[in-house]
Amino acid sequence: MTSSSDQIFLTQKFSAHNYAPLEVVLAEGRGVWLWDVDGHKYLDMLAAYSAMNFGHGNPRLLAAAEKQLKKLTLASRAFYNDQLGEFCKDLAALCGMQKVLPVNTGVEAVETALKAARKWGYEVKGVEPDQANIICFENNFAGRTISVVSFSTSSSASAGFGPLTPGFRIASFSDIATVERQIDKNTVAVLIEPIQGEGGVLLPPAGFLADLRKLCDTSKMLLIADEIQTGLCRTGKIFACEHEGVTPDMYILGKSLGGGIIPVSAVISSEQVMGVFTPGTHGSTFGGNPLGCAIGREVMSLIKDERPHEHALQLGDYFMTQLRALNSPHIGAIRGRGLMIGVDIRKESGPAKDFCKALKKHGLLCKDTREQTIRFTPPLVIDRAELDFALQGIKQVFSK
Ligand SMILES: Cc1ncc(COP(=O)(O)O)c(C=O)c1O
Repeated sequence: MTSSSDQIFLTQKFSAHNYAPLEVVLAEGRGVWLWDVDGHKYLDMLAAYSAMNFGHGNPRLLAAAEKQLKKLTLASRAFYNDQLGEFCKDLAALCGMQKVLPVNTGVEAVETALKAARKWGYEVKGVEPDQANIICFENNFAGRTISVVSFSTSSSASAGFGPLTPGFRIASFSDIATVERQIDKNTVAVLIEPIQGEGGVLLPPAGFLADLRKLCDTSKMLLIADEIQTGLCRTGKIFACEHEGVTPDMYILGKSLGGGIIPVSAVISSEQVMGVFTPGTHGSTFGGNPLGCAIGREVMSLIKDERPHEHALQLGDYFMTQLRALNSPHIGAIRGRGLMIGVDIRKESGPAKDFCKALKKHGLLCKDTREQTIRFTPPLVIDRAELDFALQGIKQVFSK
């Protein structure tokens, strides 16, 4: 089942590779253009919900995948894996932490972090058996498994899937006092998206993350940053937490960690937190597979060499300034960081979905989130001329 806003995309077949051979996609497409099966060309302003941060058909990532495909793709977990060790070492270093647990999809990594936090609560904090609770936020999105939809505040995510998993509490994303009120002796963690993506590109108030960090320290709770959408350069820093100088106790990464080629996700934390997992307590057939790890390693190497976060910061500022200069009567707030930008459409102008449909006619692929917001998250390899192309289309749609 899909939401009505997905229909824009489902009614049309998109392909980076079917219409044009890969060489054309790379030469002409630069990793930011897509063609539909009828040959129409579109600028990708969504980047597969930030799973395509480094562009379609990124040559470095394709080469790493191809090289590994010819060697070893999946090893039984107890046997030789030529990539896993180095992948974990690189990822731990990127995050400034010690331990990495690789899984596959984003939601699986969120589940892994929740399990780690609960076990840490029982074994390290001394919470009474089966009494742990975790604080989450209004408008959160962390995936679609039963435990994760159990703390969703959107009834369409959880309705019909009960009984739901207990042990979650909800606080306001804009009021630290509401977090304080939810804490008791059994609170083991706070789970936060540093910028809520699906929630409408919502930023917490300045200082909120830093306040949370302090609260977690004083109340002996783990701060878990779900950077599945914000992480890996999207917001102008490698991690969005860096904007507030905050280091969480656990990072959760996914989406672009697999380069848009294969699902790769991971939880990254300290020796003490991850040490709660002992053989037999957690695992996955595909987690840490050599192919995914080889691509993930190349993603990290690309970040080091090309510093896409710096490009995202510059172009994001440019794009937001230009959007503000439109002074469109249809636009309410414009907010974001780097190339993660939300544009609110005024209620009286109609739903954001209608604007996305109109933008598509101007060769732009973007998507609404939460009825009144358009999210612009292009691949980070986009250049200024391409953003100007997007702005031209946006100008035409929003001046009507
Ligand atoms: C912040 C956040 N967490 C978790 C997820 C779930 O990731 P996946 O769809 O790979 O399970 C998403 C997906 O959009 C997300 O944006």
